[in-house]
Amino acid sequence: MYKLDQNQTPLFDALMEYVNRETIPFHVPGHKKGYGIDEEYRNFIGENPFKIDVTVFKLVDSLHHPTGPIKKAQELAADAYGCDASFFSIHGTSGAIQAMIMSVVSDGDKIIIPRNVHKSVTAGIILSGAVPVYMQPELDKTVGIAHGVSPKTVEETLKNNPDAKAVLIINPTYYGVSTDIKKISEIVHSYDIPLIVDEAHGPHLGFNEKLPMSAIEAGADICAQSTHKIIGALTQCSLLQVNSKRVDKQRVQQMLNLMQTTSPSYILMASLDCARRQIALHGKELLDKTIDLCNYARREINKIPGFYCFGEEILGGAGAYAFDPTKITITCRDLGITGYDLDMILSNKYHIQMELSDLYNVLAVGSFGDTEENIEKMLEALREISLEYYGKGNRKSDFIDIPAIPEQIQKPREAFNSVKTSIALVDSIGMISGEFLLAYPPGIPVLCPGEKITKEIVDYIERLKSAGLYVQGTEDPKVEYIKIVKPEDAVYISVE
Ligand SMILES: Cc1ncc(COP(=O)(O)O)c(C=O)c1O
Repeated sequence: MYKLDQNQTPLFDALMEYVNRETIPFHVPGHKKGYGIDEEYRNFIGENPFKIDVTVFKLVDSLHHPTGPIKKAQELAADAYGCDASFFSIHGTSGAIQAMIMSVVSDGDKIIIPRNVHKSVTAGIILSGAVPVYMQPELDKTVGIAHGVSPKTVEETLKNNPDAKAVLIINPTYYGVSTDIKKISEIVHSYDIPLIVDEAHGPHLGFNEKLPMSAIEAGADICAQSTHKIIGALTQCSLLQVNSKRVDKQRVQQMLNLMQTTSPSYILMASLDCARRQIALHGKELLDKTIDLCNYARREINKIPGFYCFGEEILGGAGAYAFDPTKITITCRDLGITGYDLDMILSNKYHIQMELSDLYNVLAVGSFGDTEENIEKMLEALREISLEYYGKGNRKSDFIDIPAIPEQIQKPREAFNSVKTSIALVDSIGMISGEFLLAYPPGIPVLCPGEKITKEIVDYIERLKSAGLYVQGTEDPKVEYIKIVKPEDAVYISVE
């Protein structure tokens, strides 16, 4: 099914050649194959990583202007993922997302995005000078999380903004829930604009039929994937995939060159090269094993009093179309403790570290690296925690419906660059916010920089606080004060 021989690892091979030649290094980095490095650090890490920690030269190629092994390695990645072009990012998916946004929109262009984007999307919008038009994601009150945006929301937002230059969606969510991305892709393409996807949590999707459809399979034009999060590349390694005539690949390369260091780590890039080989050749069976383990964990967790771990039964509503079983969301509302408490108990008492926690849940990320033994240890810990807490606390209250998206007065870039001053939240009605304000759960901004603060929002924040729910984002941790754009310094740019 692949056009190229996926057994190849051209970048890793070039580095092995450099090592086998016993090259004498008069190049940076200055540790020179580890001879000049701190002894304790070297003793811990071992010698091999230093031998391939090199810089840009002909044998190992250049990430900014690839013509040799990096070019070949990227072509192999494109072949494995079934797309036109693949770019290595060693600035994580954050860097890839910023480059992706700047490739498709520029100053003043409208881009349609979900309200609950990762901060790298906000950064991309600030850097590009684009104007965001927000879509509200679908919310699930039982587990207190946001799903994806529905096709209907995309359709309506496009109808109201036919001049938008691109649509960005997050798919799947951190919790492994996918929207009907194929339908969304058709809707977006009926306007002949690109669908760009934050697929941070989906670099494994195209490699097992039990997983939701990948962005590229669904017809997305460009997507960014955290290879380091789910499949075997080192931290910071991501892939930016392009499969479209609507996206200029030269511009993508230029934007990545703007965002990325001129001294990219070859240790990281070689891990991307090898992770691609691993998923291309062995992804199916590795994922089968991972899915079986995670489904086993889910079944067992659901037998423990006080815990709930959702599976496919969560699907059917808007924004929840397909489910990635490798995500294990453990809801502890009925145990009477918060997800934050559970996270701390697991970490401090059992030395089990979860990926994230929120008011109702902790999230365990499943991957090729999991073992039956580790899954059993997690289950054993959860059983003990249940015995200790079940029946003693109160179920945490439902989250409160979030207010309407307020009026956008300034573009995110203008708000970011404006002079700001701090005032009491109660006195801020009618002012322009200089900060984010997010409600947890469901982790969605009620205010973004550049938006008008309304009475409805201020009242909502007070209700959240008195219900014991969380609100975050302001520099003031108690959210009694908020930074506003100084009225005399505000630049009001009309956002059409
Ligand atoms: C939805 C989403 N997008 C983007 C990112 C950024 O990815 P990275 O950490 O690889 O920069 C994250 C990180 O958690 C994320 O959850």
